[in-house]
Amino acid sequence: LKQNHEAIIFKLNEEAIAFFKLNLRSNEAKTAVKYLHSRDITNDDIQFFEIGYLPKTNSLVDHLISKGYNISDIVDAGLGTYNEERQKMYDIFADRILFPIRNENKELIGFSGRIMESDSDRPKYLNTKETKIFSKRKIAYNFSEAIKTARIKKELIVLEGYMDVISLHKNGIDNTIALMGTALSQYHVNLFKSIKGTVKMFLDGDEPGIKGNIEASQTLISNNQKVMVVNNPTNNDPDELIKQGRKAEIEKMINEALNPLQYIISKRWPKVNSNDFNSVEEFMKEICSFVLKCNNNILYETSIDELEKITGLSKEAIINFYKKILKHQI
Ligand code: GTP
Ligand code: MN
Ligand code: MN
Ligand code: MN
Ligand code: MN
Repeated sequence: LKQNHEAIIFKLNEEAIAFFKLNLRSNEAKTAVKYLHSRDITNDDIQFFEIGYLPKTNSLVDHLISKGYNISDIVDAGLGTYNEERQKMYDIFADRILFPIRNENKELIGFSGRIMESDSDRPKYLNTKETKIFSKRKIAYNFSEAIKTARIKKELIVLEGYMDVISLHKNGIDNTIALMGTALSQYHVNLFKSIKGTVKMFLDGDEPGIKGNIEASQTLISNNQKVMVVNNPTNNDPDELIKQGRKAEIEKMINEALNPLQYIISKRWPKVNSNDFNSVEEFMKEICSFVLKCNNNILYETSIDELEKITGLSKEAIINFYKKILKHQI
């Protein structure tokens, strides 16, 4: 029975994407098409990534009901919501551009809907709620496509947003996925095993992106996955860099990806005041905690040499620092 229910949700999602695609070709979709073109998304990209639209004027819920689907299944799929007071069903994704999210087996697990207006009180993106088949910790957007090139290049690039995936894809960089956020989970670790190569973390250059790169590295290293980190020194994401004509810079960043220890040091050390004991201690605490969470002996040994070089502290002092963290004294 449980499997039956999941099958119905998959089927509803497929009905929905067909409807969204059709609606992107309708007269109601002029603003949506204009928006996509303003973001340099071509008709080829629309086809490849199966982009669609749901206008305010054309209800998906009505369409699904007319096809014989149950209200409760439509609600469980995260495509509609029932208003008790008005005793009426409403569309979740009305007036949004829809991006289908498929899993590693190309099954349609959910959607992300983007608004087209630049200033709005609506959230920029609305993703499918947690359903029987959709969990926000288990998204690897574009994985089933990326894996093809990733296996050949022995390298998979992990981005934050699917707009970044789409942008890089049409610029010839095909081995990318998006987490749709900054959190990498055990689900991703398991998926990445089939690459038999290196994962390059390339989240946005802002502080949440930096934190995400660092935490993802910990998770990957402690699971024996080879990982490098792309140092994006700008405040722009890959899609914005492409828009600014900086494709060569992106390629250089990717080629010059750092090992995770180099990455975290290069992000944090420039901000340290080496005359201020507390500032150095904060730095040491972050780096050493990172290394311990990675649970890797070679990284641990390397970090002692690196930290000695950078901070000028003795090896003994650094080892003592590690001991104190382990004893929860720091
Ligand atoms: P654009 O503004 O369209 O270029 O999106 P972006 O990919 O640059 O978005 P951002 O870097 O702000 O966020 C990265 C990812 O986080 C997106 O791909 C979304 O999946 C997710 N995200 C961003 N904003 C929201 C939001 O308002 N709600 C939800 N649920 N997710 C969001
Ligand atoms: Mn391609
Ligand atoms: Mn971001
Ligand atoms: Mn972004
Ligand atoms: Mn962006």
